[in-house]
Formats: sequence, C-alpha cells, structure tokens
Amino acid sequence: MRVPLLDLSGQLGPIREEILAEITRVMDSSMYILGPDVAKFEKNVAAYCQAKRGIGVASGTDALLCALMGLGIGPGDKVLTSSYTFFATMGSILRLGATPVFADIDPQTYNIDPEKIRAILSQGDTAIKAIIPVHLYGQCAAMDEIMAIAAQYGLPVVEDAAQAIGACFPVAEEGAVRWQRAGSFGAAGCFSFFPTKNLGGMGDGGMITVQDEAFAEDLDVIRVHGGKPKYYHGVLGGNFRLDAIQAAILDVKLRYLPDWHRGRRKNAQAYESLFKDTGLLEKGLVTLPQAVYQKFADHPVDGPDYHIYNQYVIRVQDRDALRDYLTDHEVGAEIYYPVPLHRQECLVKTGWQGPALPETDRAAAETLALPIFPELSWEMLEFVVAQVMGFYQGRGMI
Ligand SMILES: Cc1ncc(COP(=O)(O)O)c(C=O)c1O
Repeated sequence: MRVPLLDLSGQLGPIREEILAEITRVMDSSMYILGPDVAKFEKNVAAYCQAKRGIGVASGTDALLCALMGLGIGPGDKVLTSSYTFFATMGSILRLGATPVFADIDPQTYNIDPEKIRAILSQGDTAIKAIIPVHLYGQCAAMDEIMAIAAQYGLPVVEDAAQAIGACFPVAEEGAVRWQRAGSFGAAGCFSFFPTKNLGGMGDGGMITVQDEAFAEDLDVIRVHGGKPKYYHGVLGGNFRLDAIQAAILDVKLRYLPDWHRGRRKNAQAYESLFKDTGLLEKGLVTLPQAVYQKFADHPVDGPDYHIYNQYVIRVQDRDALRDYLTDHEVGAEIYYPVPLHRQECLVKTGWQGPALPETDRAAAETLALPIFPELSWEMLEFVVAQVMGFYQGRGMI
C-alpha cells in the first residue's frame, strides 16, 4: 500500500464537471481579473467566515502584506507574532521594513501563547504596532485572551488564518458557548487558497476578511496599486488582485468545504482510536495533536469545526529517523516547519536578535505531519499507524 501525504484526485473526481463548466463560463465571459465572479466569491467567503466584507487577493502572502499596508505598518515598526509558522507570516512584516518580535508557542496547540504576548507587551515597547496570531494547522489561537490583550494595549490584530478557513473558536456568552470563525476576530483575517489548503484553488489565491467597512474600502484600493479613481494614486498599493477563474473554482469548492472538514475530523478520530491501541502514547513516543476546543463541542464530528486539520501533526521521538522510515515504507510525512522563523538566515544575517523560544525550537525538532485528507480509507489510516508502530518496534522501543 502507498499513502501519500495529500492526493487531490479523489476530491476532484465528483466535482470535475461542475468546475469545468465554471472555467468554460468564465473563459467565455472575457472577465478574467476581479469582476462579478470575484465579488460573488468574496460575499460567500465573508458570510461563511462571519465577516462583513471579503477582499479577494492573489495569495495568502498578499493578504498579509495588503492588511499590514492597510494598517500603515512600515520602517521602524515592530509586529508581534509566532516564529513557528510558514515564512510568509514574517516575510510580509520584513517586506514593509518592519521587524518581527516573537512570542513563544503553547506546546499543546503550537499556537502563540497569550501569556508570552502579555509578558512582551508589559515591557512597554511602543514600536510594537500589531499582533499576528497564526491559527496553525487549522486550530484557532486563543482568540479570547489575545483580543483582550490587544484591546488593553490598543493594538490591531491581523489573524493569519491561511490554514484555518472555517475553524471555530468557542466564545463564552451568557452562560453558553458561541462558536466564532477564524478571521472574524481581528481587524483582518488572512486566508490562503494554495492548493494544499482545505479550500484550495488550482493555482494561487487569497482573501482578507474584515469587519470594518472603511478598512475594507482602504484594502480594496491598496489591492489595485492604491489607485482611486483609476490612475490616481493617493496611497501606495500593489497588484494583489484575485483571478476570476480561481474565484469561480473556489466558489464551487466552498459548497463542499463543510463535508471535507468533517472527513478530516473523522480521520483524526480514527487516528486517535488506532494509536490508542499501540501503546505508543503511554510510552511518550508519540503525542497526538491536541484539539483543545473539542471539549466544548456537543458532538465531535457533526458539531462545530473546532479544528479543521489542514495538517495532522504529531510530536514524536526520533522524528527525522521516523520520517525517513515512513518515506521508505511509502507513507507521506512532512516536517512543518524544520527551521523556525527566528533562525531563518535572511533574518539572522540582518543582526536581528530576540529572546530564546524553547517551545518553538522543540516543536521544530519533534513534529511530523501525517496524511489526513478526507478521502483516506480506514485501511490507509491503519497502514500509516502500523508503519509508525513498525518503526518503534524495529528499534526495540516498544
Ligand atoms: C500560516 C501561513 N501563512 C501564510 C501563508 C501564505 O499563503 P500563500 O501560500 O497563499 O501565499 C501560508 C501558506 O502556505 C501559511 O501556511
């Protein structure tokens, strides 16, 4: 048996004709950039994400860049974020001439630790102008605490929700729990439609979700080189526009997204029951991802999307050797992310310095993503777990 990390062909099969019809329709319309298809998709994503407005952009990276430009981030400013994330989170800060400040992560969720944010802000550095929490792997950062801290210090929050479209965070309200979606908490939510995301295009794409109309208007203009009216540039922007064909494809896929999320959660539950029988968890050789908000959900699979499992990331002993073993045994496994941002050469060589981030370093050394895409069969999941078991058995560790 062979189990790849991700295989998109199973997802495409049932919706192939629907998507081909949309591609043909847009092709015949001659409207290829922005236009009615992008506007329709923006409306649908905003509604799904519980936001007032959606601004379609060319990638998740451009979503972050455009949002930070809209907040006026520039040289001399600092932005507080996580070091344990994809490069784009920091890249958008550096490209504006600003400097990242990193808070360490919570070792359970791998998301930025609110207490670490609080500790940094309490030092009174007034150059810090924004906070970017990352909803890593498909689970929201602790948005209740982060929003409260941000309000205390008067800082805008830009959610890096690239991996987390649809992920819900439980908000306590009048004795009950209300589930609020990623991208609806901060000044802006930044999404990626890179093909490996739960909502993935057939190329690059992204979206910014916004609650404030005036800010949405600003971003609308920044997205088209800051031109309003056309050819009159009151502010600096960029070419951050979304293609109509991508929007039309993604709009079809958006209708299936809740089913795909459920499929991934079901697979996560299957891993849980399979790993429980191995003894690997008790021995501390494998630690499964902690879906910390699951405990608030009425029903783990049909209930709220407390985790959308864009990646299923386990913490393991002898990570690199296990990864090689899985590759040799035809199981796709990937390391997200081997080098945390505070150790990236392009930052270090600028002379940047910051405090130690022990949990970030430990996660970068110990974590491994296993296949989780919705179309995996029970037999495939069993095979993956059997290979992990085989690795530790072969080393006499279990
Ligand atoms: C956490 C995070 N931020 C930002 C991005 C950037 O998105 P894109 O690849 O669409 O530019 C990604 C995508 O991989 C991501 O995972």
